[in-house]
Amino acid sequence: MKLYFWIATLLLVASHASAEPFAAADAKAGKALVDKNCISCHAASFGGDGSAIYTREYRKVKSPKGLVAQIRNCNTNLGLKWFEDEELNVAKYLNQTYYKFTE
Ligand code: HEC
Repeated sequence: MKLYFWIATLLLVASHASAEPFAAADAKAGKALVDKNCISCHAASFGGDGSAIYTREYRKVKSPKGLVAQIRNCNTNLGLKWFEDEELNVAKYLNQTYYKFTE
């Protein structure tokens, strides 16, 4: 019986470790950052609030890791100098709202 408990615990820990890299981030803080820094450009090309860039048929981002990488690209291009936790907050927000990769 005890063995089953440990196997279950290990599985739980393992599945948690392989979850999206931003599982513990703060989506609300991420939204504030996106609203402030990220909409103008996307909106200029896609109209509305620009969010169609995240849901377009040929969107570039295909995985949680890819999402973090793309956020880092746009962030670096813009010279925003975000900290990693800010990038992860934004990743969490965009994932919850648009990409919906499973945690
Ligand atoms: C200077 C203009 C500009 C700003 C400001 C900008 N982006 Fe982008 N972003 C782009 C362009 C252009 C693309 C499309 C790149 C492509 O198709 O190769 C893009 C694509 C993306 C994508 C990928 C969409 C997909 O196809 O899945 C994400 C995610 C993203 N941006 C996040 C951000 C975040 C977060 C910010 C705020 C830090 C931001 N962007 C600010 C120009 C901008």
